[in-house]
Amino acid sequence: MLWIKNVHLLDPMQGISGIGSLLVKDGRIAKLVKPGEELNTTEALAVLGADESEALCQLDGGGNYLFPGLIDVHVHLREPGQEEKEDINSGSRAAVRGGFTSILAMANTQPVIDHRALVEFVRLQGERAGKARVYPVAAVTKGLEGRELTEMVELKAAGAVAFSDDGRGIQSAELFRLALEYAKLTGCPVISHCEDDSLAGQGVMRKGLTSARLGLRGIPASAESVMVARDALLAGETGGKLHIAHVSTKESVRLIRAAKAAGVDLSAEVNPHHLLFSEEDVQLTESVYKVNPPLPSKEDQEALFAGLMDGTIELLATDHAPHTWEEKAKPFDEAPFGINALETALAAVWQELVIKRKVKPEKIIELWSANPARRFGLAGGTLKEGAPADLVLFDPEWRERITADSLESKSQNTPFLGKELQGFPVMVWVGGKLVLNRRKVQD
Ligand code: NCD
Ligand code: ZN
Repeated sequence: MLWIKNVHLLDPMQGISGIGSLLVKDGRIAKLVKPGEELNTTEALAVLGADESEALCQLDGGGNYLFPGLIDVHVHLREPGQEEKEDINSGSRAAVRGGFTSILAMANTQPVIDHRALVEFVRLQGERAGKARVYPVAAVTKGLEGRELTEMVELKAAGAVAFSDDGRGIQSAELFRLALEYAKLTGCPVISHCEDDSLAGQGVMRKGLTSARLGLRGIPASAESVMVARDALLAGETGGKLHIAHVSTKESVRLIRAAKAAGVDLSAEVNPHHLLFSEEDVQLTESVYKVNPPLPSKEDQEALFAGLMDGTIELLATDHAPHTWEEKAKPFDEAPFGINALETALAAVWQELVIKRKVKPEKIIELWSANPARRFGLAGGTLKEGAPADLVLFDPEWRERITADSLESKSQNTPFLGKELQGFPVMVWVGGKLVLNRRKVQD
């Protein structure tokens, strides 16, 4: 039994922001002492049903933030098949280090997660690791080949919480329409990686002045937006539940806003790197900036920010895509797409959105915890009594230099390597179990 005192509670689901405390029992939130309310030790023991001889662990949060654990709906854990990049254990350690108590593991592994036994494998490996809750995303099409649908109902029964061919766009409109139709039987969203292959071609960065100057093949913004339009229309027609991954263009934001206004059941996410870096950051010698969809223009970045602020885009997600040093050391056009993000994303967003752009901390928790829980029907996302005790104690002043040694992830392909960031989790609990403790030992 645990009493976390003197913390700034943040719970957008209940509209709470202020100093209070919280009691944990049997892995759940037993009582929330809201700002302005009082609770003495006798009352706390009564709430917990404990007599005084029993140990009640009391923790002084020192005024730091306490919020529901972040839920990341877009993570590549690479197991099975590419464990040299990451595995479920290292990835879930990286997750809790970054403040994520739940993560959705994408299906583009080797083999692809398109079969019941593989969904169960991912789920069980997550449980074995015992850190963040790991929820499998199953493939939409067998082998991510875009030809034949998977057995969605069976995959959901095995533990899948969403379906996606992420890493590849589903080129056939008819197949995607059918996917939305069948996914309705499961109640799970289909996550779309919006990319039209004929437009993207062999491109390696966003098509524009920088790509021309660097002599790199460009991917036009339409490679994404054309697919967003198609998928929104298909979701409208079928009534299926659609989630758009990694939105990166202003046209996509405009289309999503219009589709929502028309009543289409769709949600969308933005990745921190698309807010923080633009095509102008791309350098030939820095393949760490090679990501799919590619880094956008400054104008796109403003549209993404505006979309997040006005509720058009309701989720933040990392698209954590670990790759080995050897792969990323290749020339820009040969290196794989992807940015390592779990351990730096919250601090980077805190610096850029909260410190620099004065976004309220509770907005970040809404985008990264409350909304993902609601959209994907997952436990957590709130400090309500009875909810699982998935909690983050967060120090907004904590500064730290990101180094290869400091990362729990097996890969280091982050643009923040060697740089200092501010705002980190100090303690993290999942189901009441302490899974991260970076508190300095006090004497
Ligand atoms: C992802 C990967 O490496 O699996 N890469 C990326 O650049 N985002 C695939 C994806 O999310 O599209
Ligand atoms: Zn993708």
